[in-house]
Amino acid sequence: MAAIRPTEATTAPWWRDAAIYQVYVRSFADGDGDGTGDLAGVRARLPYLVELGVDALWFTPWYLSPLADGGYDVADYRVIDPAFGHLAEAEKLIAEARELGIRTIVDIVPNHVSDRHGWFRAALAAAPGSPERELFHFREGRGENGEIPPNDWVSEFGGTPWTRIDDGQWYLHLFAQGQPDLNWAHPAVRQEHEDVLRFWFERGVAGVRIDSAALLAKDPALPDFVKGTDPHPYVDRDELHDIYRSWRAIADRYDGIFVGEVWLPDSERFARYLRPDELHTAFNFNFLACPWDPGLLRSAIDDTLAEHAPVGAPATWVLCNHDVTRTVTRYGREETGFDFAAKVFGTPTDLELGTRRARAAALLSLALPGAVYLYQGEELGLPEADIPRDRIEDPMHLRSGGVDPGRDGCRVPLPWSADEPYAGFGSTVEPWLPQPAAWASYAADEQGTDPGSMLTLYREALRLRRAEPGFAATPGETSDGRLNWLPSAPGILAFTRTHGLICVVNLSGSPAPLPEHDEILLTSVPLDGSGLLPDDTAAWLRRKR
Ligand code: NOJ
Repeated sequence: MAAIRPTEATTAPWWRDAAIYQVYVRSFADGDGDGTGDLAGVRARLPYLVELGVDALWFTPWYLSPLADGGYDVADYRVIDPAFGHLAEAEKLIAEARELGIRTIVDIVPNHVSDRHGWFRAALAAAPGSPERELFHFREGRGENGEIPPNDWVSEFGGTPWTRIDDGQWYLHLFAQGQPDLNWAHPAVRQEHEDVLRFWFERGVAGVRIDSAALLAKDPALPDFVKGTDPHPYVDRDELHDIYRSWRAIADRYDGIFVGEVWLPDSERFARYLRPDELHTAFNFNFLACPWDPGLLRSAIDDTLAEHAPVGAPATWVLCNHDVTRTVTRYGREETGFDFAAKVFGTPTDLELGTRRARAAALLSLALPGAVYLYQGEELGLPEADIPRDRIEDPMHLRSGGVDPGRDGCRVPLPWSADEPYAGFGSTVEPWLPQPAAWASYAADEQGTDPGSMLTLYREALRLRRAEPGFAATPGETSDGRLNWLPSAPGILAFTRTHGLICVVNLSGSPAPLPEHDEILLTSVPLDGSGLLPDDTAAWLRRKR
């Protein structure tokens, strides 16, 4: 049995350098054969996750939900969606994982709830101006007959974020229509979310991911958006910090941690969420969105470490998640950065090139100081799938009038066994999203015995990352930033960690000499004996002195 990594004074807290694996439950593994992934599927695959070598699992929302936005529309936080299982099973899963040395992180979506949530149903049934409506943002419309939305904001998914109901009032939803925004100025909203945190910490979870963490608070006047206005009417408002301070006090009682989804370009504003009495960590979207370019990657790494250092929070390194284009696809395109606005159908992709770069990027991100997030299927090198248009469920696609391909292409049910129906996902009927024809060729069972596979690379890298003290966070070292760049030729990223560890990545366009070393620990592709590191390749080395 693997042991939970200790947290006493001789080691840094686990979350400062953890490898955390994101489970999109609907598409991870189907335990009951009905076409949708579920908790039984996850429980059956825990040995796989142990062998992969991850420290924690982050589950995207598994609560009761009509799935208008893949579960980010929660109808009840205290009920597991019957498509996934039930509460007792979630408790079992949390306990079983913990026995195996794996912690659990759940996802809380405080900006909004589902339109089927009890509060919203009650608000619809109640009259304008009622206490039930005050939990949300209901307003009269503009125009002669109130037929124009109350303000000019734009939904994160496109179009107006206002929907009009039968009695003529409008309600605000920054995302889809089925996701009404909560009124965070209301004490009951704060109280309820604090209770939800306690509910899940009581069930043994080690952490909570906070969805859309910078969007909760709104200017109470809900004014039109004037570009450049400070503060913004709904992004990154100062009121948020008081909310997170009270959440932190709760988490501290359970030794729990937070990871915030905070997309903010301003480093100083971003770091405010990571002050010692607020969130422990936040996702690093600047690194995730960064093109495959040596200068830009180096700046993203330097900026990340510099912005975290003053608040003493560890960085996180993320290459992909359930919202963005899969890494092997993104790196195989002309535009290798990620931008929601740039997504279109039919972008030419060189998957061989993308996979080569993704292998190098895996070694880069796993060598950086801080915690790392892996998204299910990343370890299999899955590409973004083309989903037939009539099967796309993502509201981002639907609300764009069919222009945006949406996010379903990175949410396709995983291939586990090459020779089984539906690539071993476990379904006896067609899974909720169709799998591409080539999916079986990515199956985990075959990759597990192939020394050259992406899965073998991730397993070996995670094993070394755990075994080598040079990759670990150091107790008392608040920035976790022990990274020193080595002088190197243009296009080469090379840095040392402690204990003689070196990571080098070649983005120069031609083979390059390795930095001085005594031992090669791991390379993203086999070297040919010339002593040169090929282009788009990474190596982990050790120098003894
Ligand atoms: C961010 C989540 O990652 C995404 O999947 C979701 O659609 C939005 N927040 C809204 O909850």
